[in-house]
Formats: sequence, C-alpha cells, structure tokens
Amino acid sequence: MRQIWITRTGPPETLELREAPDPTPGPGEVRIRSKACGINFADIMARIGLYPDAPKLPAVVGYEVAGPVDAVGPGVTAVKIGDEVLALTRFGGYSDTVVVSEDQAYAIPAGFTCSQAVALPVNYVTAYQMIFVMGAVKPGDKVLVHSAGGGVGFAAIDLCAIAGAEIIGTASAAKHGMLQTRGVKHCIDYRTQDFEAEVMRITNGKGVDIILDSVGGKSWAKGLRCLRPTGRLVVFGFSNVATGKKLNPISALRGMLAVPWFKVNPMWLMDNNKGVLGVNVGHLWEEREMVAGWMRQILTWCEEGKIHPTVDSEFSFGDAARAHHHIQDRKNVGKVVLVP
Ligand SMILES: NC(=O)c1ccc[n+]([C@@H]2O[C@H](COP(=O)([O-])OP(=O)(O)OC[C@H]3O[C@@H](n4cnc5c(N)ncnc54)[C@H](OP(=O)(O)O)[C@@H]3O)[C@@H](O)[C@H]2O)c1
Repeated sequence: MRQIWITRTGPPETLELREAPDPTPGPGEVRIRSKACGINFADIMARIGLYPDAPKLPAVVGYEVAGPVDAVGPGVTAVKIGDEVLALTRFGGYSDTVVVSEDQAYAIPAGFTCSQAVALPVNYVTAYQMIFVMGAVKPGDKVLVHSAGGGVGFAAIDLCAIAGAEIIGTASAAKHGMLQTRGVKHCIDYRTQDFEAEVMRITNGKGVDIILDSVGGKSWAKGLRCLRPTGRLVVFGFSNVATGKKLNPISALRGMLAVPWFKVNPMWLMDNNKGVLGVNVGHLWEEREMVAGWMRQILTWCEEGKIHPTVDSEFSFGDAARAHHHIQDRKNVGKVVLVP
C-alpha cells in the first residue's frame, strides 16, 4: 500500500510518500481501498508539532477515508466485499489501504462521490455534537461560526440550516460570496474587521446565542463578550497557535497567554448567565455507540437531500505537501481531499 508519512515536524515538505505491505483484516474488521482521504486541520497541527494527541513521529495521520471494501475478516456480517463505504480511522488515514472495525464503516449515501463522503465523518460529526448535542441550537438562534469557509465551517452551515438558526460567519474575504450563496446571512472578514464590534453591530448590541470557535486565544475572550445572556461559547480548536508553516514557540506561547484563563470560572459564568462548552471528537473513541447514532442521523439527512458536503479540491498523494500549503494559505473553501 501507499501512505503519506509525516517524517518529522516542519513545513509541508516533511510529508513523504512511502510503500508498505498491505494490512490484513482481523476478526470483525474490513479493508478499504481508499479513493479519498480527508485532510483535517489537526493533521497540519500534528505536522507542525502542535497537536498533543498526534502519534509520535514519524507517523501516518488521517482520521477518515472512503472507498470500496476489498476484504473482510472473520465474523463480519454488516459489510461485504464491493460495498462503497466511508469510515473513521484513528490515524493512518493518509493511506490507499486502511483496515477498520466494521462498526466504523458506513455505506456511502446514494449519489455521493467518495470525496463528498469523506467530508462527512469528522466535519459533520464535530458540527453535530456542537449544534445539536451540546449547543442545543433552536430555530431563530443566532450562531457565530468562525472559519466558516473550512470543512467544519460548511458542515456547521448545513446543520444550522436544519436547526433553523441564523448564521454569522467569519472567513477570509475571498470566501464570502460562496458563504452567502450557502445561506450565511452576515460575513465578517476577521483579518480586516474586529469581529466583536461587527457581531454587536449586526445584533443591535444584543450578542449571539452560540459561538463555534476553533480559533482560540484572544478570539475566545472576545467571544465571551459578544454572547448574549444564556449564550454558549463552544471551543473546539486552537488554529491561532499555528501562525506559520513551522513551529514558532514564541507566537504559540503568545496565543496561549491570550486565553482568558482566569475570567472563565464558575462564579463568572453564573453571574453572567453564559456557558463554555468543549468539544473534541477525537476523545470520543470509547463512546462509539453515541457517535454512531450521530453519524446515522447525518447519513439520513444526506439521503433526504438536506446535507451538501462542500469539497474544495482534490490533491494526488504526490501533491500532499501542496494540499497542506493550500489550507495554511487559507485558500480552501470547504474540504480538501487526498486522492491516492
Ligand atoms: N475539536 C474537534 O473535535 C475538532 C474536529 C475538527 C476540527 N477541529 C478544529 O476546527 C478547525 C477547523 O478545522 P477544519 O478541518 O474545518 O479546517 P480546514 O478545512 O482545514 O480550514 C482551514 C481554514 O481555517 C481558517 N484559519 C483560521 N486560522 C488559521 C490559521 N492559523 N492557519 C490557517 N488557516 C486558518 C482558514 O480560513 P479563513 O481564513 O477563511 O478563516 C483556513 O482556510 C481547526 O482549528 C481544527 O483543529 C476540531
């Protein structure tokens, strides 16, 4: 099989294509010949050396693949050879051949390509947990979605539409047109505008009900100020510490220092009627049944035509470094996919 390895921390050029023997599925496992492997921002953080959950390098990262099953292990009943599936993997996903347990493989919704399917597992499960499980978004709520033009951002847009919420999105200016066609009511260019001032202007000084914030640091402090009473800040990433293509410890430390460590305490939350919620789907591997329920709901909405994964681009395995540059240059509008 062919895999993309992160050989050491550093710029995208540290990614390397290597060959390895094909894995054999064990009891209850299936083997997938990936036609699409999802790239997530966590992979970039792992490459830079900023992702505490990453395996020790050198390593193959990647949380999701889609493609046909070509072998099944003993005892597999729900999946058969030839089925086209999407699957969650705990690392190892930058690979043209992946073995997963059968309960992590789901049939690709009718009419979806493998690249569209691979935009579902991480992005939509994360957005689902934030919007429906923890954030409890209701019709009419105003939701501020940061990095709205990325993979999770577009998933959040789809799910907010299902919930009946109104979206304010932050993104680089070039993405605003596309975001508006997808239903984002107000777009903020966080690189030239102060999002806190803009949110307060747009909401006539009231603030928003929910904020989905994967930027971190100063952004969380500002977010707490533009939540209306009963509002919830959902923290689920810290892209602010990835200031360059290589580790910059000083700017990473500056990002950490900007976290409102002392402000967010139970007394402050009580007195302000605000909540802070944390989401990390990578820490839910022991809650498979719970996550499987969310995944089944997402797939049902796909079949009903309510979900439209936005694929920005496909890069061949040989171009993996270019794919990471593309994301870090903030050029992607939606999901970036590796095609073996
Ligand atoms: N906790 C969880 O379970 C979980 C799961 C999935 C993702 N996440 C987090 O969610 C965030 C988005 O992930 P994703 O996979 O959807 O991202 P993505 O598709 O790779 O999108 C990246 C986009 O983020 C924006 N961005 C913000 N800060 C950036 C920075 N410092 N460097 C480069 N781009 C930056 C850029 O768009 P604009 O300039 O247009 O904003 C960029 O195009 C990440 O922080 C990721 O770690 C968390």
